[in-house]
Amino acid sequence: MSEAKPRPDVQVLFDPATIATRNHELAQEIVAARPEKLLVIAVLKGSFVFAADLIRALHDVGLAPEVEFLTLSSYRDARASSGQVAVLRDVETDVRGRDVLLIDDILESGRTLAFAKDLLAARGARRVLVCVLLEKSNKRAVQITADFVGFACPDYFVVGYGMDVAHAFRQLPFIGYIPEATAD
Ligand code: IMP
Ligand code: MG
Repeated sequence: MSEAKPRPDVQVLFDPATIATRNHELAQEIVAARPEKLLVIAVLKGSFVFAADLIRALHDVGLAPEVEFLTLSSYRDARASSGQVAVLRDVETDVRGRDVLLIDDILESGRTLAFAKDLLAARGARRVLVCVLLEKSNKRAVQITADFVGFACPDYFVVGYGMDVAHAFRQLPFIGYIPEATAD
């Protein structure tokens, strides 16, 4: 019989109730921006849990967005950014003349979201708004500002609530961090 693999302890950074409260506040901030013909684009994979909760919070404030998915790569299995962003799977909807809300898990160097924002603006979106669950503000490498931010993120490598390290921990219902791991 094989031994269970030892797993690092994941510490709770933001618990489920705190996240749920913040999602409803974010939805109120988003509706106040008066989006028209709103198309939500979740940047996969890390944002899928956040996006699933946020679109239901958007429903609660009276919005009825269409939802799309954009799979971008920048990190792969490593904890350090490669600096290159590529489209692995594109959206299937024409964004021309629409207000787009990009949803991502973390704004760090900004490369991922700057790439996505430029791409959708170049395709003729009327407005591209950016909503991130977490912002690591001391790590920015390119000029981009999120319109809506869930939480300021301390300088940890975070996991859970959709976010992973080497494909693990996406299923955790809270945002956690692995104490011995630093972000870089
Ligand atoms: P950047 O802003 O282009 O540097 O990259 C942000 C992306 O890197 C996020 O969408 C995440 O996928 C990933 N990322 C950055 N920091 C973390 C972390 O602490 N945990 C998990 N993924 C992270
Ligand atoms: Mg990501």
